[in-house]
Amino acid sequence: MKLTIEQERSILTEILERKGVILEDAEIVTDVTIDADLKGFTSHGLGRFPQYIIGLNSGNIKIDTDIEIENETVSTALINGNHRFGHVVAYYAMELAMDKASENGVGMVGVHDSNHFGVAGYYSDMALMQDMIGVVLANTEPAVAPIGGKKPIIGTNPIAIGIPSNKNYVSVDMATSATARGKLLEAMRKGEKIPDNVALDSEGNPTIDPQEALKGSILPFGAHKGYALSFMIEIIAGPLVRAATGSKVTGTANSRKICTKGDLYFAIDPTVFGDLEEFKNEVDNFVLEIKESGDVFIPGDMEVRNIKRNMEKGINVDETLAQELKKISEDLDFDLEKYL
Ligand SMILES: NC(=O)c1ccc[n+]([C@@H]2O[C@H](COP(=O)([O-])OP(=O)(O)OC[C@H]3O[C@@H](n4cnc5c(N)ncnc54)[C@H](O)[C@@H]3O)[C@@H](O)[C@H]2O)c1
Repeated sequence: MKLTIEQERSILTEILERKGVILEDAEIVTDVTIDADLKGFTSHGLGRFPQYIIGLNSGNIKIDTDIEIENETVSTALINGNHRFGHVVAYYAMELAMDKASENGVGMVGVHDSNHFGVAGYYSDMALMQDMIGVVLANTEPAVAPIGGKKPIIGTNPIAIGIPSNKNYVSVDMATSATARGKLLEAMRKGEKIPDNVALDSEGNPTIDPQEALKGSILPFGAHKGYALSFMIEIIAGPLVRAATGSKVTGTANSRKICTKGDLYFAIDPTVFGDLEEFKNEVDNFVLEIKESGDVFIPGDMEVRNIKRNMEKGINVDETLAQELKKISEDLDFDLEKYL
């Protein structure tokens, strides 16, 4: 099955509204999900949606709690998401960070008691679109074993950084594991193998079977350096923001458990250091220098290429996911076919 963006938007909005999610929240969740699918991060798009339905059904994603600011300074805030949709809490947190950055140059907002928020890059894009640098860090339930170990203790801990420029989309959005856990879940759903260099089975041996990998561990990206970076994110998106760390982090992939992870959002106004246009031109000049060096990509090119292709050709939905969506719509008493 293939969906246009409009079809995906209508289906997701209808499901969420029927689950009692207020329109404003449903629009944010839908927009982030479509953003993931358009950019080619399908592991965090529609394919992740059934997880959110489980979260809603089990009460671990709450639809009627308030997002609370627990403490605040001119440039920082700590938010208790009270287990609202992670996308909604993240959107709120980045908006707050941007407000603080426009007043004071920088904004840093920590979040605990939220939920899985989809793709980290959506929120760094929010800053980038307002001519600010956006940085997003989060920890997740364990998936990665320390180098030399077998037991997953560290999350896939994503990092996204978006930088404004005049001519380019400059953004990195990635897990600090060799592959996102969502890509293993997606491969399992599609009956596909995974690359031979991204995961270990529970005995610590390399595996190409996503099911074995999910029982074992994902490797960090970039060997010891990825492990070291992920280790640090685990703490600054964990105890620093009053969230859990290591094996105490739950509920980011298994939404039958309450979510205890944390996030940290930064917005930086480049004008605290100098002229905005000069900065953006320098970024473009650097991109040009990189591009003139050979047949190379910059961070963000992959997303731009995928967005163009997917806007034109639509979003692919594999048979298993199509059946899952059909079941969700039947349970909610509406006919998916009316949107197809
Ligand atoms: N919500 C969560 O808890 C969570 C956890 C982990 C990952 N994620 C999300 O999963 C998604 C996928 O992560 P991933 O690690 O599998 O992504 P990935 O390995 O596909 O890497 C993506 C990044 O690398 C850049 N890139 C790719 N090829 C490049 C090249 N040749 N040169 C320069 N840059 C290049 C891309 O532009 C992109 O920004 C991300 O959106 C991430 O936010 C979310």
